[in-house]
Amino acid sequence: MSRGRASRILILGANGQLGVELQRCFAGYESVVSLGRDRCDLADFSQIRRAITDAQPEIVLNAAAYTAVDRAETEHDLALRINGEAAGVLAEETRKISALLVHYSTDYVFDGSKTTPWLEEDPPAPLNVYGSTKLEGERRIAQAGGKYLIFRTSWVFSLHGQNFLRTMLRLGGERDQLRIVNDQTGAPTSALAIATATREVLDRTSFEGPEGVESSGIYHMTCAGHTTWCEFAQAIFQRARNSRQQGWAPVTGIPSSEYPTPAVRPKNSILSNERLQTRFGVQLPTWESALDQTLLAVRAT
Ligand SMILES: NC(=O)c1ccc[n+]([C@@H]2O[C@H](COP(=O)([O-])OP(=O)(O)OC[C@H]3O[C@@H](n4cnc5c(N)ncnc54)[C@H](OP(=O)(O)O)[C@@H]3O)[C@@H](O)[C@H]2O)c1
Repeated sequence: MSRGRASRILILGANGQLGVELQRCFAGYESVVSLGRDRCDLADFSQIRRAITDAQPEIVLNAAAYTAVDRAETEHDLALRINGEAAGVLAEETRKISALLVHYSTDYVFDGSKTTPWLEEDPPAPLNVYGSTKLEGERRIAQAGGKYLIFRTSWVFSLHGQNFLRTMLRLGGERDQLRIVNDQTGAPTSALAIATATREVLDRTSFEGPEGVESSGIYHMTCAGHTTWCEFAQAIFQRARNSRQQGWAPVTGIPSSEYPTPAVRPKNSILSNERLQTRFGVQLPTWESALDQTLLAVRAT
């Protein structure tokens, strides 16, 4: 048994992209309780408290979030309740029972103005409501004073739910040509890579006692390398062509100004993962190999 291995795990947001992969990656643990929104709605704080009381977890993996980035511009209160206030309640409840809270945040806490990869200590300055509510969640978790890990990730994709990969595979079959933004740079990161890295961190490190508090903090957790949305789309279609899957179309790059969205996105979303590597010895695969691995699952079905 590895040194950090806990026996009671509670996964929230179990039906999202990341939640599904966390369930797979932690399936071998002794006791895993997985709750989707139907069984634990984060907008109802009494449900959060009840879930923690019932499960008495040593670790809570919170994959639940309000992730509709554009809709958040007009649903500020709901986004804040789930991403900000509920994260704070979770942190309070986990602190009371000395459990570790593992929470996920986003590259969208930054304004994208830097020309080099963002470090954890760089000042956040979100450009959109979603980013500001996620930042509020980070702050509330840190303020609660318990044991926590906040993994900031970016451009999450998987074969579940709504994401760029699935949108491209669908549109590639419907359209003759696609125009995709080519002036936002970041690291597409598979939900599988995040779940795997989360497990590696927890398996390698003990969060018991003072070590748990010392290791608490924010860590960037994205796939290695970086690209633009346009190049990401081209990489998806290249692979679809090579495997003769249906659904690919020529892609033309356009500036963000030609694809206006309610929420403004940062131009540079690249996060440095050095702290994660130094502290836990954990490194995610390149985004290209994470994409290959994810698409392998399509071919297997
Ligand atoms: N997606 C990205 O590109 C991205 C980028 C950076 C960071 N992140 C962060 O990574 C984490 C995982 O995101 P993801 O990509 O897995 O998102 P996702 O696929 O949208 O999953 C989010 C899950 O949260 C659930 N949820 C929403 N409101 C809830 C509520 N009130 N109570 C309980 N559950 C609720 C959703 O339930 P329903 O299925 O019922 O809606 C969904 O299952 C989040 O913290 C997100 O902010 C994501």
